[in-house]
Amino acid sequence: MKESKKFLYIINYPTFEEELCMLEMRSIFNTEPKDKILISNIDFNPSYSTFIKSQLEILNEEENFEDILKKLEKDIITLDDFRLEFIKALKGDISYSERFVYLSKIGDKIVGVPDIKSPKLVLALGKYNEKWVFGIHEKNDKLWITHEKKPCSYSNSLSVRVAKSVVNIAANGDKNIKIIDPCCGVGTTIVEGLSMGYKIWGTEISEKNTNNAKRNLKFFNLEPRITHQDMHTIKENYNSSIVDIPYGLFSHITKDQQQDIIDTARRISKKMILITFEDLDHMAEKSGFKIVDRCIVIKGSFKRYILVCE
Ligand SMILES: C[S@@+](CC[C@H](N)C(=O)[O-])C[C@H]1O[C@@H](n2cnc3c(N)ncnc32)[C@H](O)[C@@H]1O
Repeated sequence: MKESKKFLYIINYPTFEEELCMLEMRSIFNTEPKDKILISNIDFNPSYSTFIKSQLEILNEEENFEDILKKLEKDIITLDDFRLEFIKALKGDISYSERFVYLSKIGDKIVGVPDIKSPKLVLALGKYNEKWVFGIHEKNDKLWITHEKKPCSYSNSLSVRVAKSVVNIAANGDKNIKIIDPCCGVGTTIVEGLSMGYKIWGTEISEKNTNNAKRNLKFFNLEPRITHQDMHTIKENYNSSIVDIPYGLFSHITKDQQQDIIDTARRISKKMILITFEDLDHMAEKSGFKIVDRCIVIKGSFKRYILVCE
């Protein structure tokens, strides 16, 4: 039987997003990081989460460093344009000079020409749980940071970080499922979803917001997957919806209209990620959803509730 691959993820988060990070990791990997390290057989692009600093595809895992070298002698790696590095987050109590010695011993076993400045592949070494790990190291490219500067955004738009996270939570990291953001505003989740390769669509009742959302998508060379439409007229069905519910502080909306939005989300999607500024559990439950997971994101005086409903 073919052994499945094993990945080590290095995780980091600001304290106020710890709960969101844990919810996202549970949704993608079915487990949480321990001491900011997550081990999984699931291969997830580290650049698709703001919380993943890097991914190490573990090629060798040994108690003794010498055994890593023996493995490299046995399974010779022939590679050009590579770089070797020590994973800082997994340096344990190994001093800088010691790390250099370990790396040169590994470098001696690899057949090929390194390229320190612009490598095609980065190989890395580190120590985790008293074991040496060696493998292919891919860092988060942080390209999503460029999405923070959109042509159009509002004070009530989701942050890029929250938008990316809720798309991953809605999809459980699965690129094949269909997602709808029926109240998509200026398209924050659509920009993040499409740039990560998800099948995501948006509707928006305000013509101005729809146009601004389309401008945002065009700016990042993404498909204009947004329609100017009242969500209550949606006919298609989706695996997941992301509902950043209109809220009294920013728009004129009654409790009944909020309930109607959640009821329609129930009609068009099996699963809903509900984002609110107040506790609306009773509305999700009234529409027939069961709340299966949740988190709170607090930033300054803002408190956002994120519910996973099925
Ligand atoms: C909280 S905002 C969403 C903000 C969005 N997540 C963003 O980052 O830009 C809620 C949006 O729902 C839209 N909306 C309200 N009722 C709607 C309906 N029945 N159908 C579609 N959109 C609706 C509002 O125009 C508003 O843009």
